[in-house]
Parts: sequence; structure tokens; C-alpha cells
Amino acid sequence: MTDQNALKRAVAAKALDYVVDGMKLGLGSGSTAEIFVELLAPRVRGGQTLLCVPTSERTAALARKLGITLSSLDDLAPLDLTVDGADEADRNLDLIKGGGGMLLREKIVAAASKKMIVIADESKLVPRLGKFPLPVEVIEFGHQATAAHMAEAIAALGYRGVTMTVRQRDGAPFKTDSGNLIYDCAFDAITSAPILADALNAIPGVVEHGLFIGIATTLLIAGPGDIEVIEAAG
Ligand code: A5P
Repeated sequence: MTDQNALKRAVAAKALDYVVDGMKLGLGSGSTAEIFVELLAPRVRGGQTLLCVPTSERTAALARKLGITLSSLDDLAPLDLTVDGADEADRNLDLIKGGGGMLLREKIVAAASKKMIVIADESKLVPRLGKFPLPVEVIEFGHQATAAHMAEAIAALGYRGVTMTVRQRDGAPFKTDSGNLIYDCAFDAITSAPILADALNAIPGVVEHGLFIGIATTLLIAGPGDIEVIEAAG
């Protein structure tokens, strides 16, 4: 196991401390969240009642294989807790997510949860968001016109040289679980995430973006020696 995988496993295991029998849980997506799902499964087999909502088809398939009971968000909301990974996190608990393309359902599920615990290895903790290209999910219809509006809005906020690339997979545009496209936007540094989030939200054709602002309640960061617990202010 690589060091990074060991850190992912350690932080996923730590998140189990927050799970109580009877909870309604959101299950995140990505490699760290998948380790959490794997570690959760023995609890279910051991008799705990945990009703879970997956944030992607991939996580749903894994959970089903492991015998975890899944329900729809509409049946269970509000959820007690969602546990998910992140591509970047800062100490305000603002995040960039969507590197795996699942940001839309991840955000809907997290927003419908009383708490969101983010689990990550130390490489994800950054002083400022933006080195990781920001994923923006857009409707395929007219997506180039939508992208032109995005570029205008981004330039109007003073960002320069932001490249926007339609995500590809296997030589074709990547499609999300909801059938949309993703533009990966390379900011390098995002100076005000809430302002950028509002600007993107206002553009017709933008379904959702990977900025998670004020949603996470606890950030668990695994380093070689320990796991740092960062709680949201207030
Ligand atoms: C999925 O769309 C993402 O938001 C993931 O949660 C994020 O990319 C973290 O994934 P890893 O745990 O694989 O780094």
C-alpha cells in the first residue's frame, strides 16, 4: 500500500467514529470515500441499521456489492451525516470537489445532510483553493455558449488566463451520472470562492460547480503522524 493510500485508509477509519447505529448516511464518491464505504460494510453485517444514500452510480454499485442498504434521498432526507472526500480543502472548510465528476449529486446529498465530514490525506489541504482545476457541470445543449458566458463572468471578476477544457474520457466528452458535460477551469488561485460561486450559479446552462462553500462541518486530514480534526467555525 502506498503512503497516500495508508493515509486515506486511516482517515476513512477515523470517520467511522462519527457513525452511530440508526443513522441516515450520505455516501460520498472517489477513492477515499470508497474506502469509507468498505470500512462501513462490516458494521452493517454486524447488525447496525444504517440507511444510506449514494452520491454516484459507482458508489451505489460498491455499496450494493457490500450489502449496504440504499434508499433514495427523497425517502430519507434530511440525512444525519454525509462522509465524502475532496480534491482541495482550506481551513475555512471550503472545498473543490468533482475530480471524479460526481459533484452534482455530492452537493445535493451534502446539502440535505445535517453534517458533512470531509475525509482527505494531507495533500488536499491547501492555503487557497484553485490549483486543482474547478469542475463546472453544464448542460450539453448549447454548452459552448454557456462556456462563453462563463469565460465572460470569470474575466469580469478579474481572473486572467483561465483555461476551460471539456473533460474527456476514452476519447469522447465525459458524461456525468446526470448526462451533462464538465468544464475543468484552471484558475491556479481562487481569490474569493463565494463570489465566484455566485457568478457561476447565475449562468444559464451551468448545472452546478465544484465549489462547496459553507457546507462541510468537519474536515479530517490525515498526515503521517496523526489525523487533524478541523471544525467549522460557529
Ligand atoms: C468526486 O467527484 C470527487 O468530488 C471526490 O470526492 C474527490 O475527487 C476526491 O476523490 P479522491 O478521494 O479519490 O481523491
